[in-house]
Amino acid sequence: MITVTVCVGSSCHIKGARRMIGRFNEVLAKEGLQDKVELKGSFCMGLSRAQVSRHTDGQTNCPGARR
Ligand code: FES
Repeated sequence: MITVTVCVGSSCHIKGARRMIGRFNEVLAKEGLQDKVELKGSFCMGLSRAQVSRHTDGQTNCPGARR
């Protein structure tokens, strides 16, 4: 099981976190991956400068983010 965590904090919400989660769910359903990928929400990950922050199995996927 792969875990994808999408930030739903205020800044990421404004940048489209809700749309991203919706799109993730669409793709998972279309590809039949609901039992292989767990999608979670998270409060602020402290990485919200560039785009919606997300982690995949603990790896940050936010190319413009700086810590
Ligand atoms: S609000 Fe998303 S990383 Fe801060």
